[in-house]
Amino acid sequence: MSAAILDGKALAARIQAELTCEVQSLQERFGRPPGLSVLWVGDNPASAAYVRNKNKSGQAVGIDVAKSQHLKASLSETQLLALIDRLNADLTVDGILVQLPLPEHIDSGRVLNRIAPEKDVDGLHPVNLGRLVRGEPGLRSCTPAGVMRILSEAGVPLAGKTAVVIGRSILVGKPVALMLLEKDATVITAHSRTADLSAITQMADVLVVAAGRPELVTAAMVRPGAVVIDVGINRVTDYEGNSRLVGDVDFDSVREVAAAITPVPRGVGPMTVTMLLANTVQSYKQRLI
Ligand code: GUN
Repeated sequence: MSAAILDGKALAARIQAELTCEVQSLQERFGRPPGLSVLWVGDNPASAAYVRNKNKSGQAVGIDVAKSQHLKASLSETQLLALIDRLNADLTVDGILVQLPLPEHIDSGRVLNRIAPEKDVDGLHPVNLGRLVRGEPGLRSCTPAGVMRILSEAGVPLAGKTAVVIGRSILVGKPVALMLLEKDATVITAHSRTADLSAITQMADVLVVAAGRPELVTAAMVRPGAVVIDVGINRVTDYEGNSRLVGDVDFDSVREVAAAITPVPRGVGPMTVTMLLANTVQSYKQRLI
């Protein structure tokens, strides 16, 4: 059996086309577009492409990204907090995202806590994470929301199914486990200290891998017929010096046993930025309507 490929890039393009129409009609009705400010401090090379993509995709759907800023690494925490205060008070800004990681001299927890919860399009403020834990509506973090959208669009049943999440980060593992629980899955979170990872992953009807370890999951770890969602994005260099992107799943072997699988690239990645744009539009509507 060869798995169905869950094409996140195509789904992202469809959702972004829908958002473009919605943004246009909101602009006509309320006289301004949704506004997103992406704050990037310093020059972390991995962040450069992500930030560029967020701003470019925002602009493509008609979101105003003019208040995004690239700030020097020497910016003090006090200065960053003051900038966030100004953006919180700016009526043309609906979404604020502070790209992580921040330079070491800045306390990211304090910074994320300063963003007004109704503008927290990253879903990382304690109020939004608390709403998720309580099962209340709120802004949901983008990568987990993208994973859930891929599953729902593919019609993957979750109620009563066993979902295994590898990874317990606040960006992906913890929130996606809560979202799967919200859909009545039986959820197991595995992580770097899990004793027998393979025994756990073989229980999964749905396996979400956000471990940050290239090709960690092999075919032998996957139950035949499982749905596998690969959140990993790792750049690896082969013995000939060629570099390529791989996920946390060994795609070529796992696709032979899984019922469905997301590729890397073109899987979860494009959905993350799409959910950010959807959150910005949601935030705009909630603040205006
Ligand atoms: N850095 C890597 N992923 C993310 C993300 O989803 N949000 C933010 N703010 N920073 C990141």
